[in-house]
Amino acid sequence: MGKQEQSLMDKIVSLCKRRGFIYPGSEIYGGLANTFDFGPLGVELANNIKQSWWKNFVQRRSEIYGLDGGVLMNPKIWEASGHTQGFIDFLVECKKCHKRFRADQIINKNCPECGGNLTEAKKFVPMFKTFVGPVEDSAAVAYLRPETAQAIFVNFKNIIDSFHPLLPFGIAQIGKAFRNEITLGNFIFRKLEFEQMEIEYFIRESEWEKYFKEWKNEIEKWVLTLGISKKNIHWRKHEKDELAHYSKHTEDLEYNFPFGGFKELYGLAYRTDFDLKNHSEKSGKDLRYVDLITGEKFFPHVIEPSFGLERTMLAILSEAYWEEEIKGVKRVVLRLRPNIAPIKIAVFPLLANKPKLVDKARTIYNSLKGEFLTVWDDRGNIGKRYYAQDEAGTPYCITVDFESLEKDDVTVRERDSMKQQRIKIKELRDYFLEKIHV
Ligand code: GAP
Repeated sequence: MGKQEQSLMDKIVSLCKRRGFIYPGSEIYGGLANTFDFGPLGVELANNIKQSWWKNFVQRRSEIYGLDGGVLMNPKIWEASGHTQGFIDFLVECKKCHKRFRADQIINKNCPECGGNLTEAKKFVPMFKTFVGPVEDSAAVAYLRPETAQAIFVNFKNIIDSFHPLLPFGIAQIGKAFRNEITLGNFIFRKLEFEQMEIEYFIRESEWEKYFKEWKNEIEKWVLTLGISKKNIHWRKHEKDELAHYSKHTEDLEYNFPFGGFKELYGLAYRTDFDLKNHSEKSGKDLRYVDLITGEKFFPHVIEPSFGLERTMLAILSEAYWEEEIKGVKRVVLRLRPNIAPIKIAVFPLLANKPKLVDKARTIYNSLKGEFLTVWDDRGNIGKRYYAQDEAGTPYCITVDFESLEKDDVTVRERDSMKQQRIKIKELRDYFLEKIHV
């Protein structure tokens, strides 16, 4: 990692903690590697991304159905899906410092930390195991799901029976996934517990290339609406030896992260009929699709766009982080798009000790907060309040001053340009509706 890249990452991590986006997990107990908690602004950012995704890929499309499956499922599912045999990492341990690494990430033969000799690579299944019920024996083993996708395949028949969809159709889900990752670091890029936003899109085999292309477009279109720029993304095709056990063709949308350059943001996989076929065999339930017109029975093939919430957040934060110096004073700004910014508007009375200003500002704050996430701030001077909102990524600040008392208007200050304009109080709602709901 270059020094500049490292320092940008450090700045993002520090801003995230300072402004309440992301905190290290279990911090007061010394932490737990690769776990993080979202603070008040992190939750809002995450929710805005998930809502945008759900609106775009589920609610605006008539052929995609939503689902919210369980984290715990029958362990036979992970046998049928091939995870217990095929979802494996190879692990090596340093004989000197006893640190563990993924074998495929070792560049020369020695420990990357201390240069010591490494053990032979051992197979490792990165699924978290737990036990259902009071007895911890092999019959009680269950796994925390390593991907949300399997809940979709096991509910395939339920959706067909309830909605009788025609091909192509999709099932979408947002939810937590868990992986016992060996590689540490890079902030929220690789977590033990993370959120996926996945779609299994059911098609006829002959059409996989057509839909694969369509989904590449759809993914790119959506990601650009979040403020991620085209120059920082590209597609990379998986080599044969890196394909997941279920995939015949996979391409990753990679993002130019501020540590180590282009890395996987999302995956798009052609999963063939691997999952439905295996679940049919192992469950004994016929999961074939019946064509409502011809009566033909077959296993649909699947295109799977798979999105990671945390990597989306990290890409958005990297893209938005901005520093500038104005008259010798450093200004740090998160240039988040208004549609995903956690706080949309901040309202300030110019002076906290002038009841008329405070009352007027309170009325404006109360009238906006039901519709847009609006915060109140009357501490310190206006400059400091702007500074704090710039770092939080708040696109608009309203100041109520003495002129407001006479003219029923306010100053609206735009975050990126710092331009201020006077807007009539009665026009504020329409003004923000136009600016924010884009
Ligand atoms: N169902 C397919 C699947 O799970 P994947 O490429 O292993 O495919 C999909 O994961 C996406 O989930 C990745 O592109 C990434 O965005 C996210 N992801 C995977 N492992 C992650 C981890 N440990 N921490 C954060 N995000 C992760």
